[in-house]
Amino acid sequence: MTKQTVLTGITTTGTPHIGNYLGAIKPAIEASRNPDFNSYFFLADFHALIKCHDPERVARSTREIAATWLALGLDTDQATFYRQTDIPEITELTWILTCMTSKGLMNRSHAYKASVDANREAGKQDDDDVTMGLFSYPILMAADILMFNAGIIPVGKDQIQHIEMARDIAGRFNHTYGTLFHLPEAQVDEQTQLIPGLDGRKMSKSYDNTIPLFCSSDELYKLIKQIKTDTLEPGQPKDADNSTIFQLFANFATAEEQAAMRKEFENGIGWGDAKKALFEYLDSYLTGPREEYNRLMADMAYVEQQLHKGAEKARSYATPFLEQIRIATGIRPLTYQGTQPAQAEEKKEKEQSAEQVARAEEGRRRAILMQLKPMLDRVEAAEDKAAAAHALIAEKEEQVATLKKKAKQKAQNELDLLHEELAQLLA
Ligand code: TRP
Repeated sequence: MTKQTVLTGITTTGTPHIGNYLGAIKPAIEASRNPDFNSYFFLADFHALIKCHDPERVARSTREIAATWLALGLDTDQATFYRQTDIPEITELTWILTCMTSKGLMNRSHAYKASVDANREAGKQDDDDVTMGLFSYPILMAADILMFNAGIIPVGKDQIQHIEMARDIAGRFNHTYGTLFHLPEAQVDEQTQLIPGLDGRKMSKSYDNTIPLFCSSDELYKLIKQIKTDTLEPGQPKDADNSTIFQLFANFATAEEQAAMRKEFENGIGWGDAKKALFEYLDSYLTGPREEYNRLMADMAYVEQQLHKGAEKARSYATPFLEQIRIATGIRPLTYQGTQPAQAEEKKEKEQSAEQVARAEEGRRRAILMQLKPMLDRVEAAEDKAAAAHALIAEKEEQVATLKKKAKQKAQNELDLLHEELAQLLA
């Protein structure tokens, strides 16, 4: 049985805060340890360009979010952790899906309609400052999801509509070209919608009431001291359930620790002491990950390498799958022999799986060749092509000899392909 895929993206426009951690990152990392699912987590940096045109901010946020997930212990061997823009297949699929999406569906998108409404209120033209990126953003998001045939999409409530749209788009594709896509489902955790910010409203960048996850201890204390409280004096009993301080504490603490804190509230702990207790708890909880975060922020080469590893894993699925998708739409090598009439009778299962294997193989071959292209070009440009070909093969052979396991297999595959490609020169 194939495993279900859980997939979610994080737009790279901000600095991760405690609300993001409790609401998305922590549950995702926990879920990624469940061997019953494949987990795909990615930095949605093309999504960032929709709402943020400050390049430094996009770049900084991408570094911060990547380092955050790694600092919190995401196992990149278990989960597939990558950057959207490292997967060109997603962008290509976006176009194919764009041609399967009715404009009317996009007209109904909440994100687009919210901009139109704001413009109307401000007495501006409906489409003032509305880019095509914003308008068609649900299609990019559908491509993120469908590229990996993900089934479960953990998101905030505001994203449910986008998952519905991904289903619509997938359905239309399947109907037109034959079934290639699963229909994804949103998974919304009600509990995590309730993390309060400094002012008691939901913690959110747009309310400017967040606590950055990895700010310094000093900054953390300063922010916690700003949490809004009422005018009850020390000694007066306080209602834990209505207190932002208690709610934040409860999201981190164990059941016993919560019960003890609840008692303190009943006994009339002063607000200053309650804030101090929250600070001390959070600070000690975050010290380890914060140190790791700071270490990673100073070692971007390592983080980059982790993302490359993720991209390679993601593309080992995306490349052959996109090839199938292209072939289904009629974008094929001119020599392609198979036929795939839309809504044809189901082929015999065996036959189909043989064909799928062949297509996947072709996709894999193309992906490797794409990576080898610069080397092949160098051989092509060399004065003595045969010597260059021999040198290249020798270099690869040495790699195969020194590498281990997966990397060795990969280098071996490349070597095999190089032998095929350079056969004439090597003879
Ligand atoms: N649009 C999502 C958000 O703003 C982020 C995102 C992009 C996403 N692509 C995705 C989430 C795919 C889930 C699946 O929160």
